[in-house]
Formats: sequence, structure tokens, C-alpha cells
Amino acid sequence: MAKMAAMAIAHTLPIPSAGGLPLIGQTFEYQRSAFDFYWRIFERYGEVSRSTLLFRPVYHLLGPDANEKVLLNQGGVFSSKAAWEELLHALFPGGLMLRDGAEHRMHRRMMQGAFNHESLQNYHVAMDATVDRTLACWPVGTPVPFLDLVKALTLDIATQVFMGEVPGAMANELKQDFVDMVAASVAVVRLDLPYLSYGKGIAGRQRLVRYFAERVPAKRASQDRDLFARLAQAQDESGQDFSNEDVVNHMIFLMMAAHDTTTSTLTSVVRVLAEHPEWQHRLREEMQALPLPLSFADLAHMPLADQVMREALRMYSPVPALPRFATEAVEFKGHVIPANSLVTISPLVSHYQRDIWTDPYRFDPERFAPDRAEDRRHRFAWIPFGGGVHKCIGMHFGENQVKLVMHHLLRRFEWQLASPRQRDIQWIPICHPTDGLPVVLRKTSRF
Ligand code: HEM
Repeated sequence: MAKMAAMAIAHTLPIPSAGGLPLIGQTFEYQRSAFDFYWRIFERYGEVSRSTLLFRPVYHLLGPDANEKVLLNQGGVFSSKAAWEELLHALFPGGLMLRDGAEHRMHRRMMQGAFNHESLQNYHVAMDATVDRTLACWPVGTPVPFLDLVKALTLDIATQVFMGEVPGAMANELKQDFVDMVAASVAVVRLDLPYLSYGKGIAGRQRLVRYFAERVPAKRASQDRDLFARLAQAQDESGQDFSNEDVVNHMIFLMMAAHDTTTSTLTSVVRVLAEHPEWQHRLREEMQALPLPLSFADLAHMPLADQVMREALRMYSPVPALPRFATEAVEFKGHVIPANSLVTISPLVSHYQRDIWTDPYRFDPERFAPDRAEDRRHRFAWIPFGGGVHKCIGMHFGENQVKLVMHHLLRRFEWQLASPRQRDIQWIPICHPTDGLPVVLRKTSRF
């Protein structure tokens, strides 16, 4: 095997290196704008190149064919666990992305029941009430960073719909613990000291672990319909439950995986609709034609909202890069990536390919309409939710949540940007506007 790899390497194309400073390489450029970084190396070096990020070589496989190669992962060479573990293990151990192969398949199958049609329908009812209550208190007529509003909303959804907790002091403490954990996961100084954000995140995790662990037995026996109950009651084909520790770890991981990504998507939707008032108007008409309260089935009957959401996800992919660890040497288009290498693919490159998307920098939701379906030009052109065995398990949950919030938002408010804006996005770790997207909300004439 090793001999074959060595022979292959002797006949393969070289992998261009992006150069840069010793050890640091392109780290600062990547942090400043992952979008500009990926596009610079793609335009200069093509589909395969190597750079140095945070003191180590990283191989970049870019474009739809590269997405397909890595995400389909024929032969199981690309490990999700080994790539994500380094970033997430201390705070979010045991999550699905931190598992490979048969173990991943088994956990994912068991978890699937928490994301089936019946479960999503139950979450919808709980979510509808939470969204309605929260939006009724949003400030009108004054500039307010939309990112902050929607973060608070998705945290309410996490405590009420995911955990089944009632609003109040306990819910507020849980939200703070979770916020501390997320902040810690991107902390540069990783020392467990109580006054550093990393230490606060570790303490937050310990409290959340205690909270969930104490309640698993009651949730297993309950008739509750929240996500926590569904996980506590999940079983494999032989009737085996998740261990208490697995339930706790999956819950904490799911909250993390859901929170910033959904927040990012909603913020981008509000941004594109503020920049394109004609679309805001069209979507409001679509929403006003739907009955109240919005049923779960109605979510499938908002084609324009669906197209806008997809276009926002294309232009502002919440997850800018998907890392994998190549456990063996692997060939792609004549290049060989050496064994034990960190690899990334990026939606930011495939979402702006000119041979797939017409005028890719233009906001054009109708590119997703059935008669154009530009996303169908390549199975792996549009990958905001990843693909292959690790494709987002919460995709439908996330999409439903975004469409439900759009429904309430568009019926209740009109909005515009508080000031004319440039393209100022921070892409890592999750895409968000650097200034929080100040907007002014006004009540619609029907409210
Ligand atoms: C619009 C919102 C969302 C976006 C854009 C998004 C994006 C992603 C992406 C790109 C991946 C693949 C990562 C990889 O392959 O390395 C992923 C995986 C995952 N997502 Fe989401 N996500 C969203 C919402 C959610 C929600 C609401 C949940 C849970 C309720 C969730 C739970 C997960 C989990 C558990 C995984 C790992 C799946 C596995 O490894 O099998 N996500 N998500």
C-alpha cells in the first residue's frame, strides 16, 4: 500500500504552495477574510493548493468536484473526527461530527428519530409560540443590531424547544452558560482560569452537564416532546438506549451546531431583504396569504421565502470551511495529498463559480426556482449544509426555523438598514456582519 502511494506520488502533479510568513503563513489573511483568502488561492493556484495556517500545513481542495471527493469520502480516507476534535473536543466532546465510520453511523441512526417528521412537527408548535412572544417585544423605530435580537431569539428557542425549560431564572443561567461555552470555543488563550473566557466556558460546560445529567432519567420516563426528551428516549434496533453521558454530550453539541448557524442564516436573510425591498414586499405578500397560526404543513408552501433563504445561504454560507484529516495519501486530479494532512473544502468557492451560477455576485433568488435550478448543475455546488454522511442532521429543523421566523417577521415588521452599507462580513468561525447589522424595524399596517 505504502509502495503504491510512493509510486503514485512520483508521477503526480506538484501542489502549489501559497508561501507567506514562516510558521504563520496565511493565518492573518485567513482571519481577515476567509472569502478573499480562498478566492485568491483558487484564482492563482486552482483546485489544489497548500498554505500554512496556525503553524501547520493545510491542503485546500476547492470547487464542486473537490467537495464531492471529500464529502463522499470513498474509502473512508477523510476523518471528520480527527479534524474537528482538535477544535471542539474540550468543550463539545462526543458530538456527531467527532465520530467516524461505524460508530458515527450507529449514533446518527439513533438520533434520527429526534429529527423525523413527527418530531419536527412538535418542535414547530413550540417554536411558533416562542417566536410570536419574542417578536412582540422587539423595539420599533430605532436602530438596533439585528444580530443581537436574533441571537437572543435562538437562545430562547434552544432553552424552550430543545431543552423544554420554561422562561425564567434557570433558563437565563443556562443561556449564559451556553454563550460562555461558544465564546470559549474560539478563545485564542486556552487556559482554564476563571477570569479568562476559556475558563468561563469550561465552567459553563460543567454546569450544563450537571443540569442535563440530573434530568435524563425523568426525561426518559416523560411524555415530553422536546429535543432533549427525544434523545433521552432514542433506541437502536435492539432496544438499547443512549448512555446518560451520550445524551448529555449530544444535547450540548446539538445546541452549539444549531445556534450560530441558524442565527447567521436569519441575519443574512434580513440583510438581503433590507437591501432588496422589492423582495421584502413580495415575501410579505406570500406570508400574508398563509393562514394563522402557521401550520407545519404551511412551511412547504412558501416558495419565494424558500428561494430567498437558499440564496442567502449561497451568498453568505454560515460555515465557511469544512475540515477533514486525510488519514492516508489520497489522489485528486493528479495531485496527491500526503497521509496525515489537514484538508479543507469551502462553500465560499463553489457558491460563486461562474460556470454554475449566473452572475454569482448578484442577489437572484430565482436561480433556485424549478425552471432554473442552478444548484442542480452539480450535486456539490451548493453545500451550506455539507454533504455525504456528515450532512447536517438539523437541516430541515434549521430551514423550518428560518422560515417560521421569516413568517412572523414579515407579517409583523418592515425594515431597512440603519445606514448605507458596504460588504463587511466576518466569515470565521461562522459568517456574521461585523457591526451586527443595525436595522430599523417598523410595524406593518396590519399590526
Ligand atoms: C441553517 C442552519 C444550519 C447550517 C447552515 C448548518 C450547517 C452544517 C454543516 C455545514 C454541517 C457539516 C459539517 C461537516 O461536514 O464538517 C453540519 C453538521 C451538523 N449539524 Fe448543522 N447546520 C445548521 C443547523 C443545524 C441545526 C438546527 C442542528 C440541530 C438541531 C444542526 C446539527 C448538526 C449536527 C449534529 C451536525 C453533524 C452531523 C454529522 O456529523 O453527522 N445543524 N451543519
